[in-house]
Amino acid sequence: MTDDFTVVKSKRSRKLKSRKITGVCSDPDVQSHEGIDIAYTMRKITESRNELTSSDFYSSVKDLIEKVFQSDGEKDGTKELPHQAVCYGLGNFSECIIARYQLCLLMAMREHLKIDARECLLYDPKFRNAEIEILGELGFKVIDKNEEGKRPCSLDTRTLFYMPHCGKSLCNNLLWANWRKEHLSNVVIIGNSFTSITDNTPSRLLTKTGGYIQRIYPYCTEVPLPTTFRFTDIFNDTAIHSFPANQLENVPEGFWESPPEPCYEEEDVEFIANKNLL
Ligand SMILES: C[S@@+](CC[C@H](N)C(=O)[O-])C[C@H]1O[C@@H](n2cnc3c(N)ncnc32)[C@H](O)[C@@H]1O
Repeated sequence: MTDDFTVVKSKRSRKLKSRKITGVCSDPDVQSHEGIDIAYTMRKITESRNELTSSDFYSSVKDLIEKVFQSDGEKDGTKELPHQAVCYGLGNFSECIIARYQLCLLMAMREHLKIDARECLLYDPKFRNAEIEILGELGFKVIDKNEEGKRPCSLDTRTLFYMPHCGKSLCNNLLWANWRKEHLSNVVIIGNSFTSITDNTPSRLLTKTGGYIQRIYPYCTEVPLPTTFRFTDIFNDTAIHSFPANQLENVPEGFWESPPEPCYEEEDVEFIANKNLL
C-alpha cells in the first residue's frame, strides 16, 4: 500500500523548469514509468482553472457553496468557523482531464472560502510522486497514509470533504468516523449524490454497502451541482451535502449509539483499502 508518502510542503519558489519525473509508487499496481512533465501539467492546470473560474458553472457553484457554509452558523447563532478542506479520490490529474478540472474547482473553492494552505489536504492512493510534487507546488498538503476516509473532523472547524465521483465505501467510512451530531453538523461533503445512491441501490444492498449513507439521508440537505459546465462528465451526479444541526435534532433515539465500523463483504472497485489496517 502507499503508506510511505510523506507530507509535501509548498515549494512555490522553486523554478519550474520543464522536467520529467518518473512516478514511482510503492504499490506495484500503480507503478508507472511514464514521465510526467511538471511544467506542462502546471500550465494545463492554469489554463483549466482560468476556464473554470470564468464559467457560469463556477459562479453558480460559488453561490451555492457560500450559502451552505453560511446557513448553518446563522441557524444556530454560532459565529462562522474557520474552514478546512480534505479531498479524497481526485485521481491522476496529470493525465486525466476530469481529475484536472476537479482539482481546479478545489483550488478555486480554497481561495473563495479563504482556506489556509495548511488546512487543505488531499489523498488518493493512485497519486504518482510527480503529482504529489505538483500538489506541493500548488500549496496543498498530501496526507501520508491511506486513512480509508475515516477522518473525524475537528469540532471547531467546518470541514469540506471533496470526494468527486468517489465510491460509496469511502463516503460511508467518512460518515461512520463522524457519527456524532457535533461532528456531522460541521461536515460538508461534495461527492456523488446521496439521492442517486439511495434511488439506484436496492435498500437491502445499500444497508450492507452504504448503511451510514442510508441512515443519514433523511436528515441531510442535498444541493446538486449545476450541469452547465462545458464537459458533462466532470461534475455530473455530484451534490453538496450538509447536515444542519436543527435537522439532526430529529433523529430517533439511539441513532448515534455505538456505530459499528463498516466492513464490506463485497469488493467496491472504486475503493482501495489500506492493507496495513487489515
Ligand atoms: C471513480 S474514481 C474517481 C476519480 C476522479 N475523481 C473522477 O471523477 O474521475 C475513484 C477514486 O478514488 C480513489 N480512492 C480509492 N480508494 C481511496 C482511498 N482509500 N482514499 C482516497 N481515495 C481513494 C481511487 O484511486 C480513484 O482515483
